[in-house]
Amino acid sequence: MEATHVSVMKDEVLAAMMIKTGSVAVDGTLGLAGHGSEMAKQAAPGGLFIGFDWDQQMLNRAKEKLADISDVEVKLFHADYRELPEKVREACTEAGRPPYADAILLDLGLNNAQIEDAERGISFRNEGPLDMRMDRSQGEPASALLNRIGPAELEQILWDFGDERWARRIAKVVVERRKSQPLKTTADLVDCVMAAIPAAKRDQRLHPATRTFQAIRIYLNGELDGLEECLIEIGQVLSEEGVLVVLSYHSGEDRAVKQAFKYLADTDDFENVTRKPILPSEAEIAANGKARSAKMRVLKRKRISENS
Ligand SMILES: C[S@@+](CC[C@H](N)C(=O)[O-])C[C@H]1O[C@@H](n2cnc3c(N)ncnc32)[C@H](O)[C@@H]1O
Repeated sequence: MEATHVSVMKDEVLAAMMIKTGSVAVDGTLGLAGHGSEMAKQAAPGGLFIGFDWDQQMLNRAKEKLADISDVEVKLFHADYRELPEKVREACTEAGRPPYADAILLDLGLNNAQIEDAERGISFRNEGPLDMRMDRSQGEPASALLNRIGPAELEQILWDFGDERWARRIAKVVVERRKSQPLKTTADLVDCVMAAIPAAKRDQRLHPATRTFQAIRIYLNGELDGLEECLIEIGQVLSEEGVLVVLSYHSGEDRAVKQAFKYLADTDDFENVTRKPILPSEAEIAANGKARSAKMRVLKRKRISENS
């Protein structure tokens, strides 16, 4: 059976966006369209729904789900959301509408269907090839990276993208092990982490390999590259009263969102609706542990100035 995904903070996201019938709603990280299908329904009748995912498999599954929704025009792109501003302007113009979106969602990171697929090598829980690429037609797998880079560079990656306090020791173990046995599988990396972090010092709530896997994946896929600049550009395609909602799952992501929203709010054309991020309720975390690290921020456009 194919794995599913439980959408995070769905009620809070939909309440913040207040999508009206006939409006333009955009999901930049469609996944299995858990949020996206609700957004499309709210935009019907007469609305335009635009979705993006850089993973073709996710896009195919989202397309099936969206096919059941009537009275809304749907346009899907197999693309990075960094292309969102340009593609949204084009899609709106093609549909005979002004080149602005009334609601935009970015639910960053991965969905559960990707994590559970052992062949992708994303999760420490499923043994598989140590790959981790979102687009397997490009770049190198995680195994090649880990068998190549120096200890200082690896330590920096674990620290910057995983907040891993055992970064130095983990990097040292990886570099030592690969001399006799290059890393090939997710289990090889888990073994290195376990050897590096003393049993008595392990976090009881998080699997010891969580931060390492997250850090390597974010770095390998360039998930934070240009995120702040990209969010600033995305703000420019909001309509007057249009709302951008971002869900992030890691301190580096949230920092970029916070800075981009602050930059835009300083121009006076935007309102930073959430000075402090909104967090999932305890009930949601109890029902879906994967929501634990989510932070939601909301930005609203107040006006479109002539020079913007
Ligand atoms: C957390 S999931 C979205 C889940 C979705 N909101 C739902 O409820 O079903 C994030 C999705 O965004 C996609 N993604 C991540 N970074 C992306 C990027 N830079 N461009 C396009 N898609 C991206 C991933 O492939 C994944 O399917």
